[in-house]
Amino acid sequence: MPKLFEPLALRGVTLKNRIVVSPMCQYSAVDGFANDWHLVHLGSRAVGGAGLIIQEATAVSPEGRITPEDLGIWQDEHIPMLQRINAFITAQGSVPGVQLAHAGRKASTFSPWTGDGAVPTDQGGWLPVGPGDDAFAPTYPTPQALDAAGIEKVIADFRAAAQRSLTAGFQVIELHAAHGYLLHEFLSPLSNQRTDEYGGPFENRVRLLLEVVAVTREVWPEELPLLVRLSVTDWTEGGWNADESTQLAAILKTRGVDLIDCSTGGNVPTAPIPVGPGYQVQFAERIREEVGILTGAVGLITTPAEAEAILANGQADVVLLAREFLREPYFPLFAAQDLGVEVQWPAQYERAKPRAVAAAGSR
Ligand SMILES: Cc1cc2nc3c(=O)[nH]c(=O)nc-3n(C[C@H](O)[C@H](O)[C@H](O)COP(=O)(O)O)c2cc1C
Repeated sequence: MPKLFEPLALRGVTLKNRIVVSPMCQYSAVDGFANDWHLVHLGSRAVGGAGLIIQEATAVSPEGRITPEDLGIWQDEHIPMLQRINAFITAQGSVPGVQLAHAGRKASTFSPWTGDGAVPTDQGGWLPVGPGDDAFAPTYPTPQALDAAGIEKVIADFRAAAQRSLTAGFQVIELHAAHGYLLHEFLSPLSNQRTDEYGGPFENRVRLLLEVVAVTREVWPEELPLLVRLSVTDWTEGGWNADESTQLAAILKTRGVDLIDCSTGGNVPTAPIPVGPGYQVQFAERIREEVGILTGAVGLITTPAEAEAILANGQADVVLLAREFLREPYFPLFAAQDLGVEVQWPAQYERAKPRAVAAAGSR
């Protein structure tokens, strides 16, 4: 049996395979509400046989959205449509997960096809918050530095969002601590120059994430898995790096985190990132090896053979695919065929399943 199709038990949740839909913003929500786009988009990937589907960065507060069109989970009214989507995903034998997120100083920007840079307040923008008052880049809004009460609110917002995630039927939470968004901004000395207990040495920079993990675990049932996505390195001298990520992963392992989703970058606009096939796999491998925690590999994994090799070589426990899943929602069904594994197709599509001898029938 290829590794890719070996089930994976995470606490009380079993993934039928190790192919994960990586969270992908759809920029299609209004006031944070999911709609038919999200149902069809996420639902298609469940029909396509993914083991776990992690819903896009879903904001824990309105000011935590990257763009005005981001999904949100900051009010109970957001829950019913998410319940509907998750019921569908679950009925297909896939596991619904959510990425809880706060965009920090990278908030209030135009979504890709509506504009560029900061959204002015008279066009629906807002004042973002961050560890300090430095903008991410010249075209980005200037944030307001979070004070103690602001940090308390962020933590409370994550807690409430985790509670709503449970009601909404998600079975996995991934905390977004990557890509230059709020939790990553606190981790990196390049974006965090605070002089209080949240800035300075490693222990202080990781504090906010650890507090968010703690309140999430308080409300997220023991039998449900908690994942953290890290940007393992800023790819910049003096920035957050793989040594610190490894040290942090070891702490997270003791705080009820089950898997580290190993991405990179996003906190330094000019960072030289050596993008290429599987370019981030080395980080999943290192953390898995040195910490002994489950890891996910992501980034330019596009073929069943690559995905299988990563798992078979012991470099990661799951693979996350983003853009390949936009090209091919049925990636897992075809990966099974490529790797010679028998998997169940949705009954409705059974007659299209490739077979040695085609038996199309007459109807
Ligand atoms: C359209 C799009 C939206 C994305 N949105 C998110 C997101 O909401 N959260 C996140 O952590 N990463 C996001 N990403 C990054 C992907 O999850 C993934 O890490 C990255 O695209 C590399 O994987 P790939 O080479 O398979 O596309 C997004 C990527 C794309 C293409």
